[in-house]
Amino acid sequence: MKNSAMSIENFKTVIDHAPEFRKTNGRPFITVSYAQSLDGSIATAGRQQMQLSGPESMRLTHQLRARCQSILVGIGTVLTDNPSLTVRLVEGKNPQPIILDTHLRTPLDANLVQRSDLSTWIVNANHAPIDRNDPFKQKGITLIGCERNDEGWIDLLALMNILARRQVNSIMVEGGARVITSFVKLKLADLFVITVSPKLVGGLPVIDARGFKTASSLKLTDIHYQRLGGDLVVWARPDWSH
Ligand SMILES: NC(=O)c1ccc[n+]([C@@H]2O[C@H](COP(=O)([O-])OP(=O)(O)OC[C@H]3O[C@@H](n4cnc5c(N)ncnc54)[C@H](OP(=O)(O)O)[C@@H]3O)[C@@H](O)[C@H]2O)c1
Repeated sequence: MKNSAMSIENFKTVIDHAPEFRKTNGRPFITVSYAQSLDGSIATAGRQQMQLSGPESMRLTHQLRARCQSILVGIGTVLTDNPSLTVRLVEGKNPQPIILDTHLRTPLDANLVQRSDLSTWIVNANHAPIDRNDPFKQKGITLIGCERNDEGWIDLLALMNILARRQVNSIMVEGGARVITSFVKLKLADLFVITVSPKLVGGLPVIDARGFKTASSLKLTDIHYQRLGGDLVVWARPDWSH
């Protein structure tokens, strides 16, 4: 894939090539996208949801959703934000929703469980008790069993294999902090689309200490800065070579 600065115009081309990307790399193309304040917070310090994106950048988020085949969040985000993860602000198809939920804590009345257009995939550890599984199946949810990692969470490398086998070519990772940190830690990101809102929050940092080894950092490259309303949108690719 050509390494040029990204924008919504050529994002479509990148996604069009995602089937080849999956065949070559054995995993979907991963776009990590979130909104943060100028001081790097994605929510309040108490992990409560905050409206950070303005209307223009929110519309861009929906454009990205409409172009990706699937969209992934952690159970923390489901419990605090209760998102639907649908495409509402632009024309386009809803991506396949995926929740990382090791212990099947997703509430049965969550918006993602109530979706009638698509069966949400809940990725959980294989040993979840059968009686806890049944109500989800009755709601039409697809339960996907996956191995755990050393932290006791879903093993993302194993999950990427599962998703590739399910012909998932592209994923948009929307959060929250722990999930984004895990993807970054494993170098599972091909593109970042970060909305920076002109606010200082003193809240939940997007990347926690697990993300990097001491004194290391991830350099972003092929940067494209886009002003949308009062927000700055940063398109960038990760440079994993350091
Ligand atoms: N500004 C934005 O763009 C944005 C977007 C989304 C969310 N948010 C905010 O982010 C906050 C939620 O973030 P959070 O860190 O508390 O929760 P999170 O990242 O949404 O979910 C974390 C949880 O997912 C489960 N999980 C399973 N496998 C995992 C893995 N490999 N890596 C990481 N997590 C895994 C774990 O719970 P189990 O052990 O139970 O499985 C873990 O505690 C909320 O305040 C929300 O408002 C902001």
